[in-house]
Amino acid sequence: MPLHKKLRIDLRRIDREMKRIVKYDKDVPPHSELEKSLLQTIDAGGKRLRPMLVMVGSRFGTRPDDNRIVQLAAAAEFIHTASLIHDDLIDRSPLRRGEPSLHTLIGPAKAVYVGNYMSARVVELLAQVDEEPAGDRQSFTAVATAELCLGEYEQLEHAYNYNMSLDDYLLKSRHKTAHLMAVSLEFGARAAGAPEPVCQSLYRFGEHLGLSFQIRDDLLDFTASAKQLGKPAGSDLLGGQVTLPVLYALEDAQLAAQIRSVGPHTQPEDIQPLLEQIRTSGALKRAETFCDEELQRARDVAVSLGEYAAHADLLSLADYFGGRTF
Ligand code: IPE
Ligand code: IPE
Ligand code: MG
Ligand code: MG
Repeated sequence: MPLHKKLRIDLRRIDREMKRIVKYDKDVPPHSELEKSLLQTIDAGGKRLRPMLVMVGSRFGTRPDDNRIVQLAAAAEFIHTASLIHDDLIDRSPLRRGEPSLHTLIGPAKAVYVGNYMSARVVELLAQVDEEPAGDRQSFTAVATAELCLGEYEQLEHAYNYNMSLDDYLLKSRHKTAHLMAVSLEFGARAAGAPEPVCQSLYRFGEHLGLSFQIRDDLLDFTASAKQLGKPAGSDLLGGQVTLPVLYALEDAQLAAQIRSVGPHTQPEDIQPLLEQIRTSGALKRAETFCDEELQRARDVAVSLGEYAAHADLLSLADYFGGRTF
């Protein structure tokens, strides 16, 4: 059963809200190339995991059906989508979600602005409808976007850095992936009036879930086919991404020598034997174990929220993330 059905979430409502944001924006001329790019990007799909996290988070409060929650859910997906537009540009990735990536369709300069627009517009939108007192409360969009940019920056900074530590990898992954998932749950709950300690537990659940998600995604660079990935297997390795499987493989002296020779000018065919050796080393198994332990930590948080019926939805999320193969 698809995840959204299992969680009883109507994804059409989220997509409608995303399109509404674009169409009712008086600064986006109707039928303009900007409008077309935005709508096309929304229609290209994606699993909509972050909106689902907002919706599940809201079930820990007393107002889960507020329109405000759907707006937050749409905003989370806008921030995520914008980050993928930028990520593909930086990685020079020709495909996203099985379709040509936006920068290959409209050129890199315009794609930068579509991405910027998507992450900036939602800040304004949520500020307009915010009923909370201004005070010093952190805003969802600002917190989510800032940490994500930090993570992407760290990723660039560490490219081809084979001396990167496990802590650096974990910090970067929390910033670029886990944080947005965690705040989606946390702010979904807060907007629905959930008690503050529960919001904080949901943040911790989302952070463990998100870290396990990124590790699994990093494993797929070695285990999935080009067709499943929508990009050649080994793209991360070729691009100098020192992911968890690579970190473990670096502990083997013979593999380390080969990995350290991968640089910006290495060609895809040059890394095929190395990819195969990493696949058959113990590195993938160790990364999988790490991923499973992270997921178990998420489940422990879910169980600690057992007095809420919605804790079962958290367990469904953990099951889904654990079984994800591509
Ligand atoms: C892909 O995220 C980027 C990572 C954080 C690894 P998703 O797998 O959630 O992407 P879509 O939205 O479903 O395409
Ligand atoms: C996730 O990382 C990207 C962001 C969080 C912006 P990846 O670079 O691993 O995502 P994919 O593999 O391109 O989907
Ligand atoms: Mg990428
Ligand atoms: Mg990846």
